[in-house]
Amino acid sequence: MNGRRVTFGGTQPPPQEMPTHSDLEPEPTSSQSLLTDRRSFSQAVVIAPPNPVAAPESKLTLRNVCKNFHTKTGKFNAVQDINVEVQAGEFLCIVGPSGCGKSTLLNIIAGLEKPDEGQALVNGRPIVGPGTDRVVIFQELALFPWLTVLKNVEFGLRMKGVGKREREEKALHFLKMVHLTRFSRCYVHELSGGMKQRVALARALAIDPEILLMDEPFAALDAQTRDILHEELQEIWAATRKTIVFVTHNVREAACLGDRVLVFSTHPGRIKREIEIRYARPRRLEDPNLVAFSKSIVAELKAEVEKVAQEELDYDWRTGEKKPVLRPRDHDVGSGI
Ligand SMILES: Nc1ncnc2c1ncn2[C@@H]1O[C@H](COP(=O)(O)OP(=O)(O)OP(=O)(O)O)[C@@H](O)[C@H]1O
Ligand SMILES: [Mg+2]
Repeated sequence: MNGRRVTFGGTQPPPQEMPTHSDLEPEPTSSQSLLTDRRSFSQAVVIAPPNPVAAPESKLTLRNVCKNFHTKTGKFNAVQDINVEVQAGEFLCIVGPSGCGKSTLLNIIAGLEKPDEGQALVNGRPIVGPGTDRVVIFQELALFPWLTVLKNVEFGLRMKGVGKREREEKALHFLKMVHLTRFSRCYVHELSGGMKQRVALARALAIDPEILLMDEPFAALDAQTRDILHEELQEIWAATRKTIVFVTHNVREAACLGDRVLVFSTHPGRIKREIEIRYARPRRLEDPNLVAFSKSIVAELKAEVEKVAQEELDYDWRTGEKKPVLRPRDHDVGSGI
């Protein structure tokens, strides 16, 4: 692991070495906590031991992964030196500023891109291309408007050659899991955004992938729908124990969903920090501890966001004519906090 590794929540003994970051301290709150351990936040933060080298049981391994793109202006280093081990059944979240290579990394895991250096492995075997063991759910859905909800969910099963009766049974099972049985005969245009995301989730689950890759799947949804889907996703994850890699700009969403959060630095994307989150589940976005925790990560990301802003707004930035006021929400990192 390249970044520093810390843990939030859980029942570890007080750390020998406390983090020096004062921004890891939460704001005091009298509200009920979801912490399994009621000690103060700072006591619940420990520096975890260094990540072990590729444990054999890892579901997913990224080892020294680098990816370059060749553009008109030359070679562009999108991600650099990424080392990650994801265990079976783990829920891993990735947060980082725009353009830091989150989607690039997800595409490498999906087999849609190849790393220029390093290795990407599933169950210890190199990823050589897309496969039904990994399914991606994007923000922009790829549902078929000419098919009913049921037929959309059946689609992957049909591609796998599953017979009519079995695929209908399976599709209905997963539609029930996402609470859409009633809409099975509807067409996609008859559904709300949140319902469409549920269909995409049911379709992905129906083909029983080992790893679910989610690239900002809820980014376009309103806050209430997002809240509901967070709860549902946690329920589904608890029921299926799928390995999930979830990319988001929203730090609080990452803290709410993840067992672990990888915080990326701006490009070339590297892992700046790895944080284990051991709060009891189900978690809620509005939990004050998660809010405090997310603020601390946003504070840490601010430097990265500023770097992106310097590049994106370089003229104004350099001349100082119109110095932008940088708030995390301007760049969607940690938005919703
Ligand atoms: N096919 C490509 N050719 C050239 N450059 C690319 C290509 N794909 C991505 N990039 C560049 O690589 C960098 C990382 O892109 P990526 O889409 O992975 O970022 P991201 O972290 O997912 O950003 P966002 O949060 O905005 O979705 C960006 O600077 C992007 O312009
Ligand atoms: Mg992206």
